[in-house]
Amino acid sequence: MIKTFYTEQDVQDLVANNVSVLQVDQYTVLTMLAKETADKLGLQLIYDNPDTKTAPQPTPGFWPKHEARNGRSSPKSKLLQRRDKLLGEKSPIFYEQPVHLVRGEGVWLFDEDGKRYLDVYNNVPSVGHCHPHITAALTRQAQTLNTHTRYLHETIINYGERLTATLADSLSMAYFVCTGSEANELALRIARQYTGGMGIIGTNSTYHGNTAALFDLDTLFSAGVSMSPYIRTVPFPETYRPLRGLTGVALAEAYVVEVQGAIDAFATDGIKFAGLMVCPIFANEGLPNVPAGYWEKVANVVRNAGGLLIFDEVQSGFGRTGKVWAYVSTGIIPDIITMGKPMGNGYPLAGLISRKDIVTKFQDHAMYFNTFGGNPVACEVGMAVLDVLEQENLIENAARVGAYLANGLKKLQEKHDLIGDVRGKGLFFGLELVLDRNSKTPAPAETKRVVNLMKERGILINYIGAHDNILKMRPLLPFSIENADLLMSTLDEVLENI
Ligand SMILES: Cc1ncc(COP(=O)(O)O)c(C=O)c1O
Repeated sequence: MIKTFYTEQDVQDLVANNVSVLQVDQYTVLTMLAKETADKLGLQLIYDNPDTKTAPQPTPGFWPKHEARNGRSSPKSKLLQRRDKLLGEKSPIFYEQPVHLVRGEGVWLFDEDGKRYLDVYNNVPSVGHCHPHITAALTRQAQTLNTHTRYLHETIINYGERLTATLADSLSMAYFVCTGSEANELALRIARQYTGGMGIIGTNSTYHGNTAALFDLDTLFSAGVSMSPYIRTVPFPETYRPLRGLTGVALAEAYVVEVQGAIDAFATDGIKFAGLMVCPIFANEGLPNVPAGYWEKVANVVRNAGGLLIFDEVQSGFGRTGKVWAYVSTGIIPDIITMGKPMGNGYPLAGLISRKDIVTKFQDHAMYFNTFGGNPVACEVGMAVLDVLEQENLIENAARVGAYLANGLKKLQEKHDLIGDVRGKGLFFGLELVLDRNSKTPAPAETKRVVNLMKERGILINYIGAHDNILKMRPLLPFSIENADLLMSTLDEVLENI
């Protein structure tokens, strides 16, 4: 008799019906049914993979998700139950067995049992978890004064001047806000005010934030389409699954023709074009390789139609790509740049920087005030982040360790057929997992298994992409060669067992 099981209750029912042997794979044992628990229930486990001579190490706990939702009583389950009750069962949470983190230091995170995880995911505490230089700056200013931007205060000016100095000369005027969403929302308002248009173009697999206006652009969660008449989506440029199988210049041109088509469609509908909002590394699209020539052509098309080029550097800024700003690699200077996430290393700090003519025109017509944005504590923290980036040579480190990792990950690709494509920019990687390298059929189930098995082995990564099949790895900027080796050897081992 063959029976399948999915939940704790299923296994208990099987045991109650005198089932004593279960066929499992390693993943089941690592994520659902700990060997220890099976022993307790008197169940014998036989493995799917006959080559598996020894069972993998069991993980503590037994189906925390189900356990919590079925009313079991470990401390972790109780916390999850309270979370479900307060935030909702569908409130996003990472991993089959969620991690309960209690402390962070440098590139490491620690759970409630003291288990150490190498953080290869979080790009907010980018210069290191709880960096002492930053916590000291935060505490010092919080103990001195914290108001808002409507009083004179030196820190905002010092910080703003230092920040704008990292950008092209034309990008000289700043707004400070608290989240990337606020920065992008403001970018839409400014672009619309400046151009007198409403039409915004974004890509078919992106996320720019959580406000109502940005939600219309967040095609990652709406199968690539927007319901708003003021938003048009275009395919993001990529060489791995190229549009109509094209290559080289023809491919770049085909993607640009799509942008021109969207501009023309706005015109047909009587909607004036306001601009293109994109991340310069298309981080949420899965970090594609962009066909050569795309950026110059697309910038021309947008500007010739009177639109503004808005670069969302919320993910890509502050050294992530091995350069302070990712836009530098595109060869294009945007009209508006937005930033956030790593800007305050965890303190809610985000911003928008643009040209003088653009900001002045906006200010002629609109008042913008943000209660918390740019307050003295935020600006001291922002300044401290810039200090650490410089003093610890973190951008150079991102480029150097990033190149080392890119090389090693490509070697792993030679060994494991599941890895269809390895893409990297500085310390940001997207590994596309496919069932077959010719058909490039996405492997979302395997991707999730890899992510969960990596977590079990003490490495935090995640996945992204329209097909949920791209391993997303964003080590913290102080990542060392030793950290990189641990990441790669663990990934190798996990892929060996998939
Ligand atoms: C590219 C990009 N822009 C904007 C945002 C929104 O930033 P926040 O969550 O700080 O509002 C995100 C968040 O993931 C993002 O990835």
